[in-house]
Amino acid sequence: MRLRIISLPGDGIGPEVTTQAIRVLHEVASAFGHTLEVDEKEIGGAALTKFGDPLPDGTLQSCLAADAVLLGAVGTPAFDHNPRELRPEAGLLRLRQELGAFANLRPAVFYPALAACSPLRFEMVQGTDILIVRELLGGLYFGQPRSIEGQGTSQHAYNTMRYSVPEVERIACVAFELARGRRQRVLSVDKANVLECSRLWREVVTRISAGYPDVQLSHMYVDSAAMSLVLKPTQFDVILTENMFGDILSDQAGGVVGALGLLASASIGGPVGLYEPVHGSAPDIAGKGIANPLGAILSVAMMLRYTFKLPREAECVEAAVISVLNAGLRTPDLARSGERVITSSEMGEKITEWVHSSADTNVRVASRN
Ligand code: IPM
Ligand code: MG
Repeated sequence: MRLRIISLPGDGIGPEVTTQAIRVLHEVASAFGHTLEVDEKEIGGAALTKFGDPLPDGTLQSCLAADAVLLGAVGTPAFDHNPRELRPEAGLLRLRQELGAFANLRPAVFYPALAACSPLRFEMVQGTDILIVRELLGGLYFGQPRSIEGQGTSQHAYNTMRYSVPEVERIACVAFELARGRRQRVLSVDKANVLECSRLWREVVTRISAGYPDVQLSHMYVDSAAMSLVLKPTQFDVILTENMFGDILSDQAGGVVGALGLLASASIGGPVGLYEPVHGSAPDIAGKGIANPLGAILSVAMMLRYTFKLPREAECVEAAVISVLNAGLRTPDLARSGERVITSSEMGEKITEWVHSSADTNVRVASRN
């Protein structure tokens, strides 16, 4: 198969982690007999510096013409005071929109090898396997009107939370479909006791659920869901929620399993899928070669699964991550005192080696667990 990828390293630790993820992808391609073509473009602060635009047209056109996009991270403190459209984040938000990527899938899985990284006791967090399905193109992020107006003490600001029936329908369908391949449970998270948007959301999700009688639907308010996520993370399967709630809950879920550096995401639904680690640009450690590349590597696994429909290849990458963690290899973010730490590049190398040897010896399936 021909895999045509655009890599958007972006800012901060983005370049370090995408380099390792692309390296793994090259190994997967050669081990499984695919042809990989990777082109690299600018986004975010890197694009602002070079072109004065966080999403230059060249980047956008290349992404639209590719099969899938891998993004590292966007965000640089240097541009924090820019107007909204000239912030690095604006490039990512526009890219999501231009790619029609309305469904953001964010798995949060507990790895027993990383038990010490979770703030929760082992018996509370063991078995946690959550898939957050976050609506990505609606709500407060994109709603119009929005503005900051006036001067001095009469300055005021507003945003608009807006959802239409088709927007809720399409994301609900994604969640129900995905639940079918898991434990057949969808929890829809809203704030229907206060917000009109959430009342419509709940109504539409409930109606859509009638088409999925094999999937059990429940509802929770976002405040209560946030608490349950910490108290009883194992009770969740698929969490379906709107844009802003999903942004918050997905970071929280990462904190619960103790592995923000391992969180991967897929933004799909449009013609081209966008894959990115959840961790962000982490400017404080950028350029030091110590960033955890596993979030980007697991994003590549999601790309293999969702864009290329290559589940064996995806499982191979996921098994490599588990095996390397089980072997005790840690980037600094995962290491506890006394544990030996390795660099981003060493981590990428270990994963690559594992993919290489497992493809060679055909132990892929056996090593999954
Ligand atoms: C995320 C990030 C983005 C978001 C930012 C960088 C715009 O926090 O992907 O979760 O809020 O969606
Ligand atoms: Mg976020």
